[in-house]
Amino acid sequence: MKNLIVKATLLAGLVAGISGVAWAQGAADAVAQRQAGFKAIGAATGEVKKVMDAGGDLTSVAAKAAEISAFAKRIPALFPAGSGAESGAKTRALPAIWENKSDFDANAGMLGTAADKLEMALKANDKTATAAAFTAMTGQCGACHRPYRAPQ
Ligand code: HEC
Repeated sequence: MKNLIVKATLLAGLVAGISGVAWAQGAADAVAQRQAGFKAIGAATGEVKKVMDAGGDLTSVAAKAAEISAFAKRIPALFPAGSGAESGAKTRALPAIWENKSDFDANAGMLGTAADKLEMALKANDKTATAAAFTAMTGQCGACHRPYRAPQ
């Protein structure tokens, strides 16, 4: 009987150990995916700015704004609980994210809305509307980074 309890305990420990590894792997994947995504929207933002500054055809970068909007929708799920620095991953995500997850998710939603407006202005090749929408959208990047991203 005692032996059986020891075996059961060992088995339970083994299962917990395996799921712990899977969980850490999940956190690392989420961190890698979100960092790659943010890097990509940083580049997309830069592409839009380049065409704006050059006075080029704004419609040529409308897809970049759509890319940012699509990523914005994925942000909430890319920050699962436990994927902060405590996971061991190299991340600048601050604990404040999970203390205020609904506010953080709302920030992601506002980025999506702002990127949609930018896409419309770009598609219309409207310089004035693009300039305003671009400022509004990049304002959303900063509004989320200030409370939720650690400085480099
Ligand atoms: C909802 C919050 C939020 C919004 C909105 C947001 N970011 Fe971030 N961003 C973060 C967080 C948190 C990190 C840190 C992620 C990590 O290290 O795990 C980050 C990281 C980054 C990085 C560094 C990626 C890397 O190489 O590790 C870049 C670049 C970036 N964001 C650009 C942008 C741009 C450009 C926008 C707006 C178009 C934007 N972000 C909007 C929260 C946000």
